[in-house]
Amino acid sequence: MIDQIKSHIETVKKFNASSEKELEEFRISYLGKKGILNDFFSKFKTVPNEQKKDFGKAINELKQEASSKIEGLKAAFKNQQEEKGIYGDLTKPGEQIEIGSRHPISLVKNQIIEVFSNIGFNVSEGPEIEDDWHNFSALNLPEYHPARDMQDTFFIQTDPKDILLRTHTSSVQVRYMENNTPPIRTISPGRVFRNEDISSRSHCIFHQVEGLYIDKNVSFKDLKQTLMYFTEQLFGKSKIRLRPSYFPFTEPSAEVDIYWGLETETDYRITKGTGWLEIMGCGMVDPNVLKNVNIDPNEYSGFAFGMGIERIAMLLYQIEDIRMFYENDIRFLKQFKSVL
Ligand code: PHE
Repeated sequence: MIDQIKSHIETVKKFNASSEKELEEFRISYLGKKGILNDFFSKFKTVPNEQKKDFGKAINELKQEASSKIEGLKAAFKNQQEEKGIYGDLTKPGEQIEIGSRHPISLVKNQIIEVFSNIGFNVSEGPEIEDDWHNFSALNLPEYHPARDMQDTFFIQTDPKDILLRTHTSSVQVRYMENNTPPIRTISPGRVFRNEDISSRSHCIFHQVEGLYIDKNVSFKDLKQTLMYFTEQLFGKSKIRLRPSYFPFTEPSAEVDIYWGLETETDYRITKGTGWLEIMGCGMVDPNVLKNVNIDPNEYSGFAFGMGIERIAMLLYQIEDIRMFYENDIRFLKQFKSVL
C-alpha cells in the first residue's frame, strides 16, 4: 500500500490544471470526503503495527503535496485573473469610440470667420474677464452713462468697480487698436456675459462676432457693402435695411435687418409677420473711441459691427430655444454631425 501512496505522490507532483474546474476536481479526488486521502486514513487500522509509522509518514507527505499543489495552482489562477483585470483581454476587439460633432455655435462661428477672412479680415481674441476701460470707458461709455444699463454685467471686483465679465467683444477691438496701427481689418469672436433673465430668447451667456475696419477714407458705403456681402454669403440673401439706432461707440449707428421673406409659416412667426429680421448692430467708429486708442480721427475712419452667434445659429438651424445650446444634450448635438 505504501507503494500506492508513493505513486500518488508522484502523480500529484506532476499535476497541472488547465482550468479552475480541473483543479477543483483534483482537490475533491484527493482531499474530498470520499477522496483518496480519507480512503488511506480509513485503512490505517488494518496496517500491521510495524508498518504504521512509515504508512503514516507517507500519507502525511501525500496530504502535504496535494495541499501545496492546490494552493500553488489557485494562486496562479488568481494572478492570471488580476492581470486580466488590469490589461483586459488583450485579444478582444477594441471598444468603439463614437466620433463627436462640432457644437452648432462653433459651426456658425467658423462659417462667419470664413466669410470675413475671404475679404481680408483676421481673427482677434481677448480675455473674457475684462477691466472697465476696455469694456466700457474706452468705448465712449463712461461711468454713469445710461447706456451702461443695457449691458448690465457681473462685476468680479467691486471696490473699486473695475473687473468684470465682458458684455461684448468690442473690448477685443479696443485691445486690438491699442496694439496695432491702421489699416485694421479684424473680427473678434468670443463668449460674452450679461446680467439677463434666462428665457427661450436670451441668456446670461452667449457668443458674439464683432468686426472692425479702420483705414483712410472708410465710409458708410463700405460698411453697407460689407454687410450685403456677408448676408449674401451666409444666408443667401442680400436685401438688408439699416435702421437708425444708438450705440455710444459708433456715430452714426444702425441696426441691420435682413429681408427674410414670408414664404412659410415659420417666416411669418420669426419675422412677426413683417418679413424683416434684425441680425446685428453697426456704425461708424466714434472719433472719441479712435482718440482713446491714439488713432488720429482726422486721418482715419472706420466702421464696426456686432452680432450674436446664437441668434444666427437659431435662424440657420431653426432652433426654437436658446437654452438648447448650453444643455449639452447629446441628442441635440448629434443632429449637427452631417454639417461637418
Ligand atoms: N457691441 C454691440 C453690442 O454688443 C454691438 C455693436 C458692435 C454695435 C459694433 C455697433 C458696432 O450690442
